[in-house]
Amino acid sequence: MKSISQYREAFQEYLDYKIEVKEPENLYNPMRYILGLGGKRLRPVLVLMSAEIFEANYEKALDAALAIEIFHNFSLVHDDIMDDAPLRRGKQTVHERWDINTGILSGDAMLINAYQLFENYDSETFQELAKLFSKTAMQVCEGQQYDIDFESRDDVTIENYLKMIEYKTAVLVGASLQMGAIVANTSAVNKESVYEFGRLLGIAFQLQDDYLDAFGDPETFGKQPGGDIIENKKTFLYLKSLEASGESEARQLEHLYTINPVETAGKIDAVKSLFRSSGAAALTKLEIEKYTEMAFKVLDEIEISEEKKRPLREFGEMLMNRTV
Ligand code: IPE
Ligand code: MN
Ligand code: MN
Repeated sequence: MKSISQYREAFQEYLDYKIEVKEPENLYNPMRYILGLGGKRLRPVLVLMSAEIFEANYEKALDAALAIEIFHNFSLVHDDIMDDAPLRRGKQTVHERWDINTGILSGDAMLINAYQLFENYDSETFQELAKLFSKTAMQVCEGQQYDIDFESRDDVTIENYLKMIEYKTAVLVGASLQMGAIVANTSAVNKESVYEFGRLLGIAFQLQDDYLDAFGDPETFGKQPGGDIIENKKTFLYLKSLEASGESEARQLEHLYTINPVETAGKIDAVKSLFRSSGAAALTKLEIEKYTEMAFKVLDEIEISEEKKRPLREFGEMLMNRTV
């Protein structure tokens, strides 16, 4: 087995070789732009690792890994339109650099391109990959719709939130691992277990993402600081704060989430200070650990050698400690 960074390099090389300059430019350049901004390449690395864990050569999984990364980047292009986000990976978002229509159509083309990559597999593998992919992509849409609906609802529960992040984020992490397992043609039990490991890790990942949106270092995080607060996102931080605060602080927080000031710095600081004083910031960290631990328990049960489990465990630990 290779190390995480070796898988990342192998994937990057394949991506550079596969993504070509094509016309019309305004359809394909945004795709090259967003894929060229880098990013952590977490999902494709998981596809490759999973293939090797279940005894296939990672090269066989490169097209599935590329499909996952293109799909993920497609979802970011559309998500940034929906969230009115100016920055992605420290650079202008696609709809800021071009315009909204360009973001919509380039995104559509990326989604189609992702599907096309499965055509490079034999018919049985193709069918299994496409089936998993369709199910997952539909769940991502459902999660995205809940996320938007929750912005204007005031009865969102922590349970609702956890379901929403499971759909918008975690299922794709599970699917990445399962795709590696499908390419490797391993047992049904292994395919399910590795998906479950990824799903739990994905929930921890999105909790951490929400935490960093508020408390990450703006220099390295690459997104607009406090973007979720500006958009009144009902994150774990927000919902836990309401739950853990006294009456007056809770009303103050709710009030802050009804205003959309032109100058946002004051709102962001006030909300962050309530996230801290209520204890929600610390409780979010604990929740991240809880989900990571649950993921590791699932990993413990998978019947592969300790040596093969190690990189997956390292991956989970890296996610928990990440700052970007
Ligand atoms: C994005 O969720 C989920 C998808 C793109 C499907 P967020 O909106 O919370 O993610 P960031 O913070 O913009 O990366
Ligand atoms: Mn979003
Ligand atoms: Mn977003």
